[in-house]
This record gives sequence, structure tokens and C-alpha cells, in this order.
Amino acid sequence: MTPIVVSGPAELAEESARLIAEVIRSAVSDRGPCYLALAGGDTPRGAYERLSRPPYQAGLPWPAVHVFWSDERRVPLNDPQSNFALAWGALLSRVGVPGSQVHPMPVHETDGAVAAAAYARVLEAIPRNASPWPRFDLILLGLGEDGHTASLFPGDDALQERDALVRAVQAHKPPPERLTFTLPLINAARSVLFVVQGAGKKSALEGVLRRDPALPASLVRPVDGELRFIADRAAFPPG
Ligand code: 6PG
Repeated sequence: MTPIVVSGPAELAEESARLIAEVIRSAVSDRGPCYLALAGGDTPRGAYERLSRPPYQAGLPWPAVHVFWSDERRVPLNDPQSNFALAWGALLSRVGVPGSQVHPMPVHETDGAVAAAAYARVLEAIPRNASPWPRFDLILLGLGEDGHTASLFPGDDALQERDALVRAVQAHKPPPERLTFTLPLINAARSVLFVVQGAGKKSALEGVLRRDPALPASLVRPVDGELRFIADRAAFPPG
């Protein structure tokens, strides 16, 4: 597998936004709604900010988009560490996704298992079509330096989950208390896009592209969907 490679962070934001917009437009044109799961961490900020500006700000069918998160830190939604806070500030507060179609993970739930089950119930509203799982039109993912993705970390038993849609986990990366999509849910998506930036991700990206099974991100293989990686040159240098 070869990633789409762009020169730097600005180009990564531009091209990621373009790819995301493409999926949104085709989902809405083909089926009406678009079910989108946003990635957390810092990398996607540039793409979210780019989508909040012309031509995408007014040019995309935002009222048909339903927004979820592929993982979340169990901190208040206005906490700077919150993946919701990142996406709200950079994108969702600036485009016309109806509030009823923005689905933050239930971080107020004190019990992780209760929170995971509650979000799984929210996901049940997403059409499955022929899939045994809710089918997202696009799931955005980041990549950790240890090969984690969403909040699926190496060695975590959540990697073995075959039934639940969402799991509560203790992460190696602070903050520790998190909720994450499981692999069956991720692999049911019509399209998965990894956005990878920076030299720190070079080794993990290499390992994932050669499917090193020790890396959780290597286990993302959409059953009937498209898998793409977009990276800057620092994360995927020539040669
Ligand atoms: C999170 C993420 C996580 C992230 C990677 C990369 O909540 O932290 O979902 O999987 O995507 O750790 O993080 P950066 O983009 O900050 O490098």
C-alpha cells in the first residue's frame, strides 16, 4: 500500500480537506445523508480548519452530514484535550451541520462501560445496508508513534473485540481514560482515511504499510471499503 504524499502540513490540510469533501459530496449524492467519524489528536486540525473556509464552508451539503468521533478522551467537552473541542472549534462551529446531527461521545458518564454502551446505541441509527455493522461513509483516523489508531493501543484487549461497537480503554497516551471505536466497526466503513504528519510517525507508518501485526493500525482493513493514507514527506520520505 502506498500513501498519497504531500510536501508539508499545509498541503496535508489542503489535500485531506479535498478528499473528505469528495466523500461527503458522493455520499450525499448517492444516499442522502453522510455519516462521518472524525479523528482526534492534533493532526486533523489543519484539515478541519481548511474545511471551515471557502469553498467548503458554504459549498458542501453540511445539513446532510451526521458527525461522530472515532475516539474520545473522557474529559469535559470543553477541555483542551477533548477531540470534540478540537473539531468544534476548528470546524463544526463554523459550518452548517445541524446540532442534532453532531454526536459527541458521552464523556459525562462516569462509568466507561456505560458510556461505551450508550454511544453504541447512538450508532445504531446509522444504516447497516448489507453489513452486520453500522456503515460509516468515512472514518478519519490518525496514527500514533506506537502504531495505535483511534484509542486502540498495542496489547489492549479491545483489539480482540468482535461484538461491541465501542469500548472504554485505558490509554498509554494521556489522558488515559478513553472511548474508542472497535475494529469491526472501523472495518465496516465504506471509506477509511488515515492522515499522518511528521517525522515522528515515519516508523509507525512504514510498519502499518507493511502490515506489521503488532501495530493496531495495521488491523484496519475495511471489509468492503476503501482504505487510504495521506502523509506529508516528513512521515513518508522518498527512497
Ligand atoms: C487521540 C487520537 C489518536 C491520534 C494519534 C495521533 O485521541 O489521541 O485519536 O489516535 O490520532 O495519537 O495523534 P496526533 O495527531 O496528535 O499526532
